[in-house]
Formats: sequence, structure tokens, C-alpha cells
Amino acid sequence: MEGDRIRSSFLQFFQDKGHLIMPSSSLIPAGDPTLLFTSAGMVQFKPFFMGEATPPSRRLTTSQKSFRTTDIDEVGDHKHLTFFEMLGNFSIGDYFKKDAVAMAWEMVTQSFGISPERVYATIYLDDEEAYSHWRDDIGIPEERIYRYGGKDNWWGPAGLEGPCGPCSELHYDSGAEHGCGPLVSPDVLTAAQRNDDPMPTCHPNCDCERFVELWNLVFMQFYQDLEGNRTPLPAPSIDTGMGLERAAAVLQNKRNLYETDLFQTIVQGICELTGKKYGVDAETDYAIRVVAEHGRGVSFLIADGVVPGNEGRGYVLRRIIRRAIRYGRRLGLQEPFLTEVASIAIQRFQAAYPELAENREHILRVISLEEDRFAQTFERGLLLLQDENNGIFTSRTSLRDKLNQFIDRLPSPPQNFAMTVNDQQVTPIGLFAAQVEDAQNWVQPILRPYFHRDVVKPLQTLLDSLNPNSPLSVERFHIEAKAIINRVSGVELFLLYDTYGFPPELTAEIAREHSLEVDMVVFGDEMEKRRSQSRAAHTFQGAMEMLPTYENLGVGTVGFVGYTHIDQRSRIAALLVAATEGEGQALPVGHVVKGQRVELVLDSTPFYAEAGGQLGDTGIISGPNGRVSIEDTQTPVAGLIVHRGIVEEGDISLGEEVHAIVNPI
Ligand code: SER
Repeated sequence: MEGDRIRSSFLQFFQDKGHLIMPSSSLIPAGDPTLLFTSAGMVQFKPFFMGEATPPSRRLTTSQKSFRTTDIDEVGDHKHLTFFEMLGNFSIGDYFKKDAVAMAWEMVTQSFGISPERVYATIYLDDEEAYSHWRDDIGIPEERIYRYGGKDNWWGPAGLEGPCGPCSELHYDSGAEHGCGPLVSPDVLTAAQRNDDPMPTCHPNCDCERFVELWNLVFMQFYQDLEGNRTPLPAPSIDTGMGLERAAAVLQNKRNLYETDLFQTIVQGICELTGKKYGVDAETDYAIRVVAEHGRGVSFLIADGVVPGNEGRGYVLRRIIRRAIRYGRRLGLQEPFLTEVASIAIQRFQAAYPELAENREHILRVISLEEDRFAQTFERGLLLLQDENNGIFTSRTSLRDKLNQFIDRLPSPPQNFAMTVNDQQVTPIGLFAAQVEDAQNWVQPILRPYFHRDVVKPLQTLLDSLNPNSPLSVERFHIEAKAIINRVSGVELFLLYDTYGFPPELTAEIAREHSLEVDMVVFGDEMEKRRSQSRAAHTFQGAMEMLPTYENLGVGTVGFVGYTHIDQRSRIAALLVAATEGEGQALPVGHVVKGQRVELVLDSTPFYAEAGGQLGDTGIISGPNGRVSIEDTQTPVAGLIVHRGIVEEGDISLGEEVHAIVNPI
């Protein structure tokens, strides 16, 4: 059964059972500040569950665009996704457990035709009601009903507060041959959980590959507030969720989400683009999957209005675009490629989600702009990390080799003795101490002071306590020295981020490939330091009040060409809808139309920004489809030149090529 048919059969099944088919809501949740993205089908229905709004029907069904950030670094394996479609049926104070269980069973075993003996049910520990529905009403044998605690079988809230409740899941058994051993009985598993014993294997929620969690039925009963207090909802309700991609894998008998028809066109497209074959080499496959998944996710995010930025949603988008570019390079794609992947994804999903086609140009422009921006610094950043002579990683891996040689030579307990290396009389400790001292020369000059502070000094202190009389064993020394060497500092992470646009998570992922850790805590401190420095600097800004938006645009320094030209071709690097006089702040957007007051940032500009008593330039910026009359030019943040004006004709979009012409004075 193809993905599109699974989606439509699901919706049809529930429509036939009196449910109203609702459209998917945006990936940007409306009115829920505690939630970054729509992460489940119930998100748009929160006000209904809570009795704050009246639903159009008490039975609803959707295929909801969902996005989860928890597994970004895992994307590339065969089962983790950021973007996915969630099929769900919802009862707003209408039916409850009995009917939800009956409908799920009918759907799975009859509409989908999955053999009943392949299906296992799980319930929340003491949910006897759910237990009896599965066993007595449906007839699932006791040995296929397992009980789990809150970690597995309590769902919600999405975000920091909202509806939640015990849940019950259906798991598909792909066969004992895929398992890690014989199944434990439900009783043994329950006893282990009640006694807080380690979980025995194998069972439906085991980490091995035998079971696929197919469908989650949540028995919404409580509202949980920000402090974690639970109060009953106005009426018990139902929220269910089935990942379309997983359902497709089960129904198409694939053990890998990317082999389902939902991903096949994108995977094939990437193969054509790269000349690679899928299924030949594990690393290539991994990279293809990353590019396919992120290319699709990025398209959906931008279609819903997310633009790359340095915080929140914009940061997640930036992070996955950059992660995709990195894996694209691994596939040999040196030129921009992500718009091509996005085009395939748009084509594949536009029938179900027309917003993709409607925003096609905008999606491709935003990707292209971000791809160009990162491409300029990507190679240099990578070199800073991996340069053979003085890369951040290379210096550490070389030092780690020296440490290992030292440990091999060192007797335990530690003793120093004379030995000859390169005709020199040395001691092991003396030799390693000299190598540690020398290591500073293995890093780039800009990083030397930090390397000295974070690596050399602590290693020297550790070495000082290594002598036959000290309580420090060789093993302990080895562990502590490795921890010092293997940690990339927050300062380095920050430099990579600030100068080369490497999201710290990306650096961390590359670091892990070299068996190195990164110091995210110090990175956070560095970010905070930078924020307060720029806040302090802006206290002195006069003409345009400093607004956080400008800091978050993610646009680098704008090139000023006005000393030589008053006319320049450039590109729209950021587009904002201006705040109404004195109210709120300008908002970054992807598209503006005739009549709107706007602010534009270009990659480079001939417009002079107000400074030192000289007024900001006025003029015209025209794009392929529209024209903006510029009334003022300002620099709200150092290095950023903002043109303010009004769209006189047509429309203007982020990323467009424009012609900027200053009015001669
Ligand atoms: N909200 C539940 C989930 O996300 C069921 O839809 O699993």
C-alpha cells in the first residue's frame, strides 16, 4: 500500500466512523509559546481538549505535519526523522477507551490487513480498563499485552503544559529473527518494573529491531500545568497518533523508512545528482538519507514561514540545512544542491500539502541563500577543524597518540627512568612533558592561548602529580589526561560558530567522529558573553532603537560600496515587515507586497547609513517582481545596513536579485 493510499485510507476510515477530516495545521504552533514546533496531531486541538473552544465536531481526524528536534543527530540511520506525518483520530469528550481500541484494531487488521498475531498491545501499568478492552473485547491473548510505566506509556503534555494521559500502543512484530533473544513474559516484565529492576529483554519496547511501534492511543484525562500539577480535563478524550512513514514501512514490508515509496523518489533523485548508488556502501547510504530527510524537512519548514536564524525555529532550520550541506559534500556535491533535493520533495508531497507548491519559489530562494552563505565559510571552517598540521581536532588526536605511547612506556606504579630517544637521554615523563609543551605549536596562533589554558596547563598540572610517591595511579592519570585532551573547548566551538557559521551541534557531530567531546557549557557562556557585550554596545545607539531581531537575522557584515558606486546589483539577505510607529518590532518575513512598510538588508549596498551627522541615503531597490522606495538607511547593529521604505509596486521576496540605486543628492 503506497504512502498516499495509507494516508487517504486512514482518513476515509475515520470519516466513515463519523469523524470530520481537518487540514493539517502549520508546523509553527499557533498560540503555544512553550512549543517550538507542532510535534503531534493533538497540538492544534489543545483548546478543544481543554474546553476553551468548541470543536467543529467531537470526532476529528487528520494527517498532521509534525517536526521533532530531539533526534536530529540520529537522522541518517534508518529510522529517525525530524519531519514526519502523523495520522490521528481524536475524540473531544465523545468516545473513550473502548471505541478507540476497537477502531484502532479494525483499522490495523482489516483496512491495513496486518495479521492479528503480529500485533502486540502495551498499556500503562495499572490501566485495567485498557487491558480488558484489548483482552476481552478484541481477543488479544494475554501473552501479547505488556504493561509499562510512565516513561513508555504516559503521553504529554506537548510543550511545557497541556493535556496528557496514560496511553496504549500497538506494536508490530517483524519476527523473532530480528530480535535479540526470546521474549520475556508480560508478568516477568511487569514484576521487573514494579521492583525497579533492570528491564529484561526482549519485549515490544526493547531497543532491538524486532518491534515497530505503530500506533499510540492516548487516553487524555488530565491537564498538566507549568508546575507539573494535574487536574482532570473537562471530559475524557482520545488523541491517537500513527507515523505515516512507519506505517508505510510495515505495510510495504521494508525495514528502513527510506526504502518506502515516501522517500524513494528523493533518494533516487540524490543518486542521480551524485552518481552514487543507494545500498552499496554504508557511509554513502547514511549521507544520502541525511540529505533526503533534511531536504524534505527544510522544504516543509520554510513553506510554513520559518526562515534561517540564530535562535529558536530559525536556528533549527539553519542547523539542518547546514547538516545537509555537510553530508552533501561527503557525497561529492561541491556546488549548491539542496534546492534540487527540495524541488523533488516539493514535487513528491505537493498533492497532499499544496502549500509546498504555492511557496515553491520562496522555499528554493531561502535555501539557496542559506546554502550560498554557508558554502563560503564551510571549507575554511572544516580546515580549522581538520587541517593536517594545525587543525583543532588534529592537534588533539596527535596529542592523544603521544599520550598513548607515554602510557605504554610507563611502568605502574609510575616510575621515571632514563631512556634514549633519537640519541637523546630522556625520561618518559620528561619526554611527554616536552611534547605537551610543544603541542601549543600544533594549533593555529589565534587559538594558542586557549589551548594553553584548557589543554597544556591542566596536563602539566596532572603530570606534576605523577611520581612514584603520589596516589595517582597510571590508569587514573590516563583517564584524566584523555578527558582533558579529548574535549574541544567552548571557545573553539564559539569561534567556529561565530566566524564560520558552524552550528555547535554540527561541530560536535564531526568531533564525535574523531572520538572527541565538545564543551557545550562553555560554549553557552561564550554566547551569553557575546550577547551582553552587544547589549552594552547598543545602549549608545541613537536613531533606531536596538531590537533583538536585527541580532538574530544571521546576516553577516553588509558590504558598503557607496564610495565608488551609487548603483549596485545585490541580493536580499533579509526582509522585515516594519513595526508600526513605536509599536512592537520589525518581523523577519519571506515575502512582502505592494503597500507594506518594509526593511531590507542586502548582501552589499551603495546606500550610506545615517552616521556622524550625515543622513541615511534614499533611493530605489527594484527586484524582478517589484520595487521599493527607500526613505531612510540606518545601521541598527554594527555591520548591518538596513534600508527602510515602502513597496511601491509588485512584490519582493527574500533571496531575490535586486538593483539598488541611490538618489543622487
Ligand atoms: N500525541 C500522541 C503522540 O504523539 C498521539 O498522537 O504519540
